[in-house]
Amino acid sequence: MTDIAILVGTESGNAQMVADTLQEVLEALSHEVTLHEEPEADVVDLANRDVMIISCATHGDGELPDNIIPFCDYLKETKPDLSHIRYGIVALGDQTYHQTFCQAGKDVDAILASCGAVRIGERFEVDACTQPLPDEDARDWVKDWVELL
Ligand SMILES: Cc1cc2nc3c(=O)[nH]c(=O)nc-3n(C[C@H](O)[C@H](O)[C@H](O)COP(=O)(O)O)c2cc1C
Repeated sequence: MTDIAILVGTESGNAQMVADTLQEVLEALSHEVTLHEEPEADVVDLANRDVMIISCATHGDGELPDNIIPFCDYLKETKPDLSHIRYGIVALGDQTYHQTFCQAGKDVDAILASCGAVRIGERFEVDACTQPLPDEDARDWVKDWVELL
């Protein structure tokens, strides 16, 4: 059993829906899950955290959703040592935004890596154009991902 934090970056709810599904699948596999809909570094308790998944949409022109900006700013400004953390990324986007497809998820990935955290598996990118059921796709992804821990 693994204790897993899921952090959400969303504007209109898709990344939240994905996070809810990830939680459901992981709990059915007997993992302990804490969902952070408004991620705050101290509440996430990064110093004592081993495993995280970030479910993050992209908005604006390749920008982070508002609710996850403070968390990312904290990481960029304080650069905590997160080398004890393993994480997965679900990046939601839309390929019609050619230049900025899933940019926020890519940015969160880069920020965590810059703090020494280690990504497990490939970033899972969800295209709203071709994947109309992101939660179903994420369900399959997380079953494989959790096996890599
Ligand atoms: C105003 C707006 C701007 C967007 N900008 C981007 C973008 O720059 N890159 C991208 O890949 N997707 C972009 N998207 C697509 C969203 O990331 C996608 O619809 C996602 O599923 C939304 O997730 P959410 O409901 O959790 O916010 C944008 C969507 C909207 C409505």
